Amino acid sequence: MPNKTGRRYPGKTSSPDDKGEHIRLCLENDMESSCSNGFEKYRLINQPLPEILFSSVDTSCRFLGKDISAPFIISPITGGSDLSKTINTNLAKAAQALRLVLSVGSQRLALENPDLAATYQIRQIAPDIPIIANLGAIYLNYGYGLKDCEAAVKMIQADALCLYLNPMQKILQGSPDLDFKGLVDKIAHLCRHLSVPVMVKEVGFGLSPLAAELLADVGVACIDIAGAGGTSWAKITRQMKKSIWGETGACFDDWGTPTADALVAVRKAVGSIQIVASGGIRNGLDMAKALALGADYAGMALPLLRPATQSANAVKLRIEAVLRELRITMFCSGIRTLEGFNGDRNIIELCHT
Ligand SMILES: Cc1cc2nc3c(=O)[nH]c(=O)nc-3n(C[C@H](O)[C@H](O)[C@H](O)COP(=O)(O)O)c2cc1C
Repeated sequence: MPNKTGRRYPGKTSSPDDKGEHIRLCLENDMESSCSNGFEKYRLINQPLPEILFSSVDTSCRFLGKDISAPFIISPITGGSDLSKTINTNLAKAAQALRLVLSVGSQRLALENPDLAATYQIRQIAPDIPIIANLGAIYLNYGYGLKDCEAAVKMIQADALCLYLNPMQKILQGSPDLDFKGLVDKIAHLCRHLSVPVMVKEVGFGLSPLAAELLADVGVACIDIAGAGGTSWAKITRQMKKSIWGETGACFDDWGTPTADALVAVRKAVGSIQIVASGGIRNGLDMAKALALGADYAGMALPLLRPATQSANAVKLRIEAVLRELRITMFCSGIRTLEGFNGDRNIIELCHT
C-alpha cells in the first residue's frame, strides 16, 4: 500500500502502535538487561586533597559548536504519537532549561506520514540547544537516501543526524529488513553530502571496535556506544504482543557488550573521534567513570522516560540529580573541569576482585 507520501516502503516496520507498546512495556515492566553496564569494575580514586572549591567545579563544554552546561545527552526515545509529543515536549523544555543536548526518536514514521512531524518538532521550545535527528541506518538499504535524511534534519531543524544500527533488534522484531550489506558506503555518502554532521549509535547492544573504526574512517563525526547493561531491546521485542518468539530467543536478553567494556575497546581502536557513552548509565558516578575511560559525553534514555510522561520539571529534577552526582564525583576526584578527565594524573583504577 502506498502511504500518505506516496512512498512505497517495502519492509514491515514499526507502527505508531508498536512505538506505544515499547513505551508501555518500558513503563510497566523491567526492560533492562540483567547484565551490568560494566562500570562497577572501575573506581575513581578518592582525592582527599582536591585543592578545589566545590562551587567552582565546572561541567560546561561544547557539542557540535554549541555551548552546553554538561556533557549529557538525552538519548533518542520517541515520536509519532500524542504521548510521544508530550514526552518530546517535556524533554525539550528540560533540555533547554538546563542547556543540554536532546535527541528525538526515529523519524521514519513522520517521513512516511508528514501529519506526525509535529510530534517531533521541538525547536521552538528549545531554540538554543543542539538537537539530533534520528533514523535507522537499515532504511538506507530499503529506499531511503540523502533526500530523506535531509528531510529528517529539516523537519526538526536539527544540528546533526544520528543513524542507529540494530541488527539484533530487527531480527527479534521478526522484520524482513535484514540486509545490512553495504551500509558503510551509504553512511560514507551521507557524511560527504548531508548538510549536518552524521552520528551513529547502537540501541543497547554496544558498538564494536571494528564498527567504530569503519565509521571513523568514513567521516562519522561522533559515535554513541549504546552498550549493554541498560534497556534491552531483546527483552522488549520478545514481550511485544505480536512477538513471534515467546520463550525462544530468551538467550539474547543479555546480548551485547557492556557499555564500559565497549567504551574502553572502542576508545583504544579510534583515538580521536567523539564518543558518547550510553546504555545503562544511571547516575553521575557512571557518567564520571565513562568520561574517565575516554567518553566525551554520556547519554541516558530509560531513566528519563517516566519523568517525561509527567512534566518538564520532573525531567529537570532527574537530570539535575545526575549532574549533582557528577559534580560531587569530580570534586572528590580532584577534577575541576572536564579537561581534568584527560590529564596526566591517574584518576581511575580497576577494582580488584
Ligand atoms: C522507549 C525507548 C525508545 C527508543 N527509541 C529509540 C529510537 O527511536 N532510536 C534510537 O536510536 N534509539 C532508541 N532507543 C534506544 C536509546 O536511545 C538508548 O540507546 C538505549 O535505550 C540505551 O540507553 P538506556 O539504557 O539509558 O535506556 C530507545 C530507548 C527506549 C527506552
